[in-house]
Order: sequence, then structure tokens, then C-alpha cells
Amino acid sequence: MQSSALPKHVAIIMDGNGRWAARRGLPRMAGHRAGIASVRRVVEHASDAGIRCLTLYAFSSDNWRRPSAEVQSIFWLLRAFLRLQTARLRDRGARLEVIGRRDRLPAAALSAIENSERATADGTGLHLRVAIDYSSRDAIARAAFHAADALGPRRFMSPDLFGPMLMRSLTADCGDVDLLIRTGGEKRLSDFLLWECAYAELLFTDRMWPEFDESDLDAAIADFSHRQRRFGAVPEPAPALNSAVACT
Ligand code: FPP
Repeated sequence: MQSSALPKHVAIIMDGNGRWAARRGLPRMAGHRAGIASVRRVVEHASDAGIRCLTLYAFSSDNWRRPSAEVQSIFWLLRAFLRLQTARLRDRGARLEVIGRRDRLPAAALSAIENSERATADGTGLHLRVAIDYSSRDAIARAAFHAADALGPRRFMSPDLFGPMLMRSLTADCGDVDLLIRTGGEKRLSDFLLWECAYAELLFTDRMWPEFDESDLDAAIADFSHRQRRFGAVPEPAPALNSAVACT
């Protein structure tokens, strides 16, 4: 059993931008813009709190189904975020990495991503991963395809063999998710880090993503610190009351 105060790897499904905007009579774009402000706050706070890895779900492979004007706005905001925040990330020692497919991204977005990744490559602090055109099923299927080659004549597969292959192909050194947060009131994983969340602690909040702030992240971390993570084992028995006496 493990109980640890600080999750090493936090992943967030940032949901609720559109509803936040609709409740204010604003266009969905205004919700995404406000969502970017939340991203900035939460990234800086996670870095200050000493979280090693933060993975944000910015654009799923299914999000291509949205109206093209909304898709364009999201990529425009992503580029604006990278343009304005890359130097700040580098100054605080953060490293930015984008996970997901790159072959379908708009050229300008891809080039902004590559610039930011290069500029922050030496960061040893927070590892910020932004999932874009990301589908966990797709990531697993691709890693399985490459694993078949890597296996060679060995015809055997196990989670211990396959896990590192998946991590290497996509998720670098972040490993399993400790705490998964989803804002916006829905309770599902939406094809996000399915393998890596096998033993994640799940936290669903009704707060819309633009409302999510530093205190919400602190509350999520505090909640995590009270969870007992057993990973399928049983809790260790409490030491017997008279054991201290017996040892003296
Ligand atoms: C979910 O809200 C939000 C998105 C699908 C897009 C979020 C992306 C950004 C804010 C831009 C890039 C992000 C980074 C990390 C720089 P929704 O539109 O699904 O909300 P709804 O469920 O209320 O409609």
C-alpha cells in the first residue's frame, strides 16, 4: 500500500469551456480563451507545487468533428499560448512536450510546437505534456504495431514488456498517472491515457475548466493525499500495540 502526499503525474481533462461560455451568453471561443487563462494558472501552480509531470488534454482526435471555425480557433489559441508562454516555461525550468499525432496538425501549429519543444528541451522541472490530436486507443494500437517488430522471434507479450514500449513511443518519462482530474461534471475518460490510468486516482469536479484555479488544484492534491493506494494488495496491518514494549 502506498500513500503519498504529492502525485508525481497529474493528468487533466479540461472540460466545460463551451458550457462556461454559454452560461454567460458568450460564444464558445470565449470559453476556450478563458480556458487558456486556466491553463496558465494551473501550469504555474503545478510547477510551484513540485509536481513532476502534468498532462493536459487539449484536443482529442475526436475533436476534429467540431465545426472547422472552432477547430481553427483552438489551434489559434494554442499558438498564442506557445508564443506568449514558452519563455516563461523555460525560465521556470519546465519542459514542454506535445503528445499525439502530428501528421494532421496545421503547419503553423506544428512549427510553434516544435519551437517550444526545442526552447524548453533542457528543462528539468515540470514536464508539461499537452495532448493534441490524441487518442489513447490510437497510441496503444501504434505501440502494439511497433512492438510486434521489436519482439522479433520472441512470441510473448506482457504488460511489463509492452508498457515501456508504449511509454517510450509516446509518453517519455512520465509513466503512470497518479491523479486524473476531469472538470465539467462528466465522469468518463474519453480515450485519454487509458493504459497510464490503470491505477490512477480519479477526481471528477463540477467546476468548468475556466473556473478551475490554484485552490482547486490544491484541493485535488489534498484529496489525493488521503487516498489509500493499494494496487491490488491488502493494507499492511497496523503495528500491534505491545510491539514497542516487546522490542525494548
Ligand atoms: C473542452 O471544453 C475544451 C477543449 C476541447 C479545448 C481546450 C483547448 C484549449 C483551451 C486550447 C489549447 C490548450 C492548451 C493546453 C494551450 P468543451 O469545448 O468540450 O466544453 P463543453 O463540454 O462545455 O462544450
